[in-house]
Amino acid sequence: MKVVITAGPTREAIDPVRYISNHSSGKMGYAVAQAARDSGAEVTLISGPVALDEPTGVTVIQVESAEQMLEAVLSQTMDVFVGVAAVSDYRPAQALPQKHKKSDSSWSIELIKNPDVLATVSALKNRPFCVGFAAETENHREHALAKMQRKNLDLIALNDVSASDIGFDHTYNALQIFWPEGEKSLPRQPKTELAQALWCEILERFSV
Ligand code: PMT
Repeated sequence: MKVVITAGPTREAIDPVRYISNHSSGKMGYAVAQAARDSGAEVTLISGPVALDEPTGVTVIQVESAEQMLEAVLSQTMDVFVGVAAVSDYRPAQALPQKHKKSDSSWSIELIKNPDVLATVSALKNRPFCVGFAAETENHREHALAKMQRKNLDLIALNDVSASDIGFDHTYNALQIFWPEGEKSLPRQPKTELAQALWCEILERFSV
């Protein structure tokens, strides 16, 4: 089974020294890659910039921006795609060629929409089994279910990124997973163990 997983943040260049990004550490995505590898899958991990060691037995492709992540993902063939990366929804309309110099006036940056990696994969003609994550701070369930439908997913894993002891950059996380016919809670535990539980659920749904 060929599995492609995205992890970490993306960086969207403003100028040669500045970028837009987020708090993703890559821990959750790397743990899912390791769980898939341990089950015998052939795993490609497409990673934004993180401070983690590359897992052994996994092909790792390093990228920076959402556009690079999309290009790397579309270069792969896959049976299962898991989008764990916190992909920036927007990027500066223009990355300035030189460092923007400070002045007394304010500075406005026009942002344009990035491609949606997960939605692009799920719209492919011969689409893989598609799993997304939903990082929510309010109306968690409603937003996750809407994302599953809008992005045409086989499964979505919701996490509350406003909680103080799970989510972005924490060692622990908790997930509520949804698929079109059901849902299940995967309680708070280390991301390494949670990823194994999630991977079992993905395998179960994939083989239905
Ligand atoms: O990396 P960690 O520090 O361990 O933190 C883990 C995590 C909180 C980043 C992870 O558990 C998580 O929730 N990842 C998804 C973060 C996110 O961007 O969620 P979203 O609700 O904005 O996006 C929904 C889905 O669409 C995600 O699968 C995302 O990868 C995908 N997406 C979003 C935007 C975009 N332009 N392209 C995408 O593919």
